[in-house]
Amino acid sequence: MIEFKDVSKTFHLGKREVQAVKNVSLTISQGEIFGVIGFSGAGKSTLLRLVNMLERPTSGTVWMHGVNISTLSAKELRAKRRNIGMIFQNFNLFNARTVAGNIAYPLKLAGYSKQKIAERVNELLQFVGLEDKAKDYPDQLSGGQKQRVGIARALATSPDVLICDEATSALDPDTTSDILRLLKKVNRELGITMLLITHEMHVIQSICDKVAVMEDGEVIEFGNVFETFTNPQHPTTKRFISSVQQDLPSQEVLREWQDKSNNSKLYRVIFTGEITNNPVLSQVTKRHDVDFNIIYGSVQELQAQLFGNLLVSFTGESANVNQVLTELKTLVQIEEVNIHES
Ligand SMILES: Nc1ncnc2c1ncn2[C@@H]1O[C@H](COP(=O)(O)OP(=O)(O)O)[C@@H](O)[C@H]1O
Ligand SMILES: [Mg+2]
Repeated sequence: MIEFKDVSKTFHLGKREVQAVKNVSLTISQGEIFGVIGFSGAGKSTLLRLVNMLERPTSGTVWMHGVNISTLSAKELRAKRRNIGMIFQNFNLFNARTVAGNIAYPLKLAGYSKQKIAERVNELLQFVGLEDKAKDYPDQLSGGQKQRVGIARALATSPDVLICDEATSALDPDTTSDILRLLKKVNRELGITMLLITHEMHVIQSICDKVAVMEDGEVIEFGNVFETFTNPQHPTTKRFISSVQQDLPSQEVLREWQDKSNNSKLYRVIFTGEITNNPVLSQVTKRHDVDFNIIYGSVQELQAQLFGNLLVSFTGESANVNQVLTELKTLVQIEEVNIHES
């Protein structure tokens, strides 16, 4: 549905070249919520702007519904853009227009009749839960309400793609959750494909089906959210995941634990899927007369599956502990944690 084929975008600032996007190939399928995460300057906004053709690729092609959008005429492009809604971090509302006026704006541009516009605006106000705010001005609204107006406006012309540039980054955590729920509703009830970019991993965790991680203009890792969270490959991906998982206690706590435990080894045990239903740690250690101690960790729900990430130490005869480790390796992901490097 949206396809980037070996897309690069280079900006020229005087003599300096900035390669904002480098050789990106990605496919965003119909109906999915695709998240792109990266630190500031990674090239995320540029990637989005290539989709609605606010930027043109320096090389490579961007496809939408099988059409190479770089080849469209200005007129075709305007029609195509009506099919793509966009929402922004700073909402981009017209302050001199009412809420209803903001939502009506794209409908006026598209030449809808007054009657049709009024009907559609009401429908949208209801969908985003702002029926009572039609006559208010943006200044009178909270950040969350402003973003609801932004979403209603983006949906006005019934696009089949919604692109979101840091749509929740200016909002507090509770309001962020409300807006993410609304975006999920947009996706699930209206079947709208979503491409969203963020620097916040919890946004990816809450609503995305797929994720791509960008760094210095490149996609360094991508996949299904569950697989990426449970088995990240790139150090940057691991950093983003640590930001929502708290998978390691502070150095102080770790050192204190190490002193008290006579420098015992510490292992990270990761369980996913079916195995979370079985008491594997208890069964395997019991069989070999070894004790285990969970130092830190969590079991979370991610895309309707359980995912455990625990720091565990084992005590017993070293031959027995080795047998436990060998056996656990066949059942779960397990690796020694190097406390000094962590
Ligand atoms: N219009 C532009 N002209 C020159 N450089 C730009 C332009 N837009 C973005 N860049 C540069 O491209 C890089 C990626 O920017 P951007 O896509 O905004 O990243 P992100 O959204 O991940 O923060 C940055 O180094 C930025 O300064
Ligand atoms: Mg950006």
